[in-house]
Amino acid sequence: MRAKLKTSMIIPAIEITNLGKSFGSGRKKNQALLDLSLSIEQGEVFGFLGPNGAGKSTTIKLLLRFLKPDSGSLRIMGRTVGQDEFRHKIGYLSEFPVFYDHLTARETLLLSGRLSGMSRQAIDQRIPMLLDRMNLTEAANRRVGGFSKGMKQRLGMANALVHDPEVLIFDEPMSGLDPVGRHQIKKLIAELKQEGKTIFFSSHILSDIEALCDRIGIINKGVLLYSGGLGVFLASGNGLEERFVTLVEEANHASAA
Ligand SMILES: Nc1ncnc2c1ncn2[C@@H]1O[C@H](COP(=O)(O)OP(=O)(O)OP(=O)(O)O)[C@@H](O)[C@H]1O
Ligand SMILES: [Mg+2]
Repeated sequence: MRAKLKTSMIIPAIEITNLGKSFGSGRKKNQALLDLSLSIEQGEVFGFLGPNGAGKSTTIKLLLRFLKPDSGSLRIMGRTVGQDEFRHKIGYLSEFPVFYDHLTARETLLLSGRLSGMSRQAIDQRIPMLLDRMNLTEAANRRVGGFSKGMKQRLGMANALVHDPEVLIFDEPMSGLDPVGRHQIKKLIAELKQEGKTIFFSSHILSDIEALCDRIGIINKGVLLYSGGLGVFLASGNGLEERFVTLVEEANHASAA
């Protein structure tokens, strides 16, 4: 038991090794990711930053096996993606969450729970707690088609948490939300960290990254420019925005030269 505990503590929650992915072929070939390696520890909040088209969503889709890598490997809690059963370990919020408009919030969560193999009893126990946590109790029996962007985002979060996974992967969870909605999502991420979950999320909102993350990764044109502590990164410049922009500009300049 003790040995098992020790092993589980040293396994990274997410381990990406020499990942490569391109789209298209010949002259139209687009190298979306080039030799990307990243390791995220258990219990960490890790922010993934990069300009539009940098490769953030592609990395996330590879982690979920929605896409197959050209090269390299991905492991989640020690399970090899594409080889071992790993999906029950992760909860995912897409960049563009899509729901069945005619289902209610409650039915949406019931469907997700069933699809992830949970018993009806376990789901019924969990749904009220999730709805309450996401401020959706009053909207529980309303059809999702009429939900606002913020409500859909919170329902997407509840969906990601239905099966109580250890690792949470959120693609731009705060995008398009008003300050109240953003605050709610930030609070939730902080609470999930308190519970010991690992959270890997992409965002363009640097102040949110600064408020939440232990470590960050910065990617540009499929190449990882930085990964490490936020404090270390900030120590060498005038705030996250300036450091981030300078790093990306320098990389673009170097690749153009
Ligand atoms: N299915 C696809 N087919 C062809 N090219 C794709 C596909 N998905 C992504 N790409 C390309 O891969 C690159 C990385 O895209 P990706 O969506 O991962 O960027 P991103 O960092 O998530 O950007 P954003 O901040 O805009 O969401 C882009 O050049 C994009 O055009
Ligand atoms: Mg994206």
